[in-house]
Amino acid sequence: MAEHTLLVVRALNVSYGESKVVFDASLDVEPNQIVSCVGRNGAGKTTLVKTIGGFLKPTDGQILYRGTDVRGMPSYDVAKMGLRYIAQDKKVFSDLTVAENLELASYATGDRDWEPVLNFFPKLRELLDRKAGYLSGGERQMLMIGRAILGDPHLLLVDEPTEGLAPSIVEQLCDIFLELSKHCALIIVEQNLSLVSRISHKVYAMKEGRIVSEVTEPDDIKNVVFEKYL
Ligand SMILES: Nc1ncnc2c1ncn2[C@@H]1O[C@H](COP(=O)(O)OP(=O)(O)O)[C@@H](O)[C@H]1O
Ligand SMILES: [Mg+2]
Repeated sequence: MAEHTLLVVRALNVSYGESKVVFDASLDVEPNQIVSCVGRNGAGKTTLVKTIGGFLKPTDGQILYRGTDVRGMPSYDVAKMGLRYIAQDKKVFSDLTVAENLELASYATGDRDWEPVLNFFPKLRELLDRKAGYLSGGERQMLMIGRAILGDPHLLLVDEPTEGLAPSIVEQLCDIFLELSKHCALIIVEQNLSLVSRISHKVYAMKEGRIVSEVTEPDDIKNVVFEKYL
């Protein structure tokens, strides 16, 4: 294994009770890489990234993050190490303001310097006093990413960030992910193949709980050769 590999997942198996959902998944992420995970609904993408983030316990397999085996570690400890999961459901604390939502993330990470976040998302600065429940889908996604980048993470797991968002917001997110990758690596679960093909260094396709393809050739990614898995 190369010493600089940020995340190494090997032969990961995940079940919900009796029902096995992820089979022998292996993947690698290098620092500052944008890695996408594509596949149909129910393929096991969310289960895979939630397991990497410490929200689900695998039955077996290995999750090495910066050389540490984080498998079975609770999600808050994994998050503290700079591996952050941004959930698919876009849940924020609706009754709290944007500032209060950031405050909670500051409390969790010990990082009280919001300037990098607010410089990154100038829109959030204007919305600091707005209750998060009143944010648009795009603003909510920015708040979720903003919370997750407090404490300078090394790896963001972003689960279907563009789901339900307007095309102009998807374009903005595209730029945001490219900019974020200057600071950390990303695993993005995504069904928007145009976005995937434009920003990814590597694409894993999942089908029925297995990673069935790993595409790394830039031309293959540009030509969306992984589209057959959707
Ligand atoms: N909490 C759960 N309990 C039982 N089965 C689940 C649970 N969450 C997801 N599943 C099942 O696991 C499979 C993979 O789901 P998921 O990881 O959400 O796929 P994806 O994110 O690719 O749509 C699906 O068959 C889904 O019904
Ligand atoms: Mg999902």
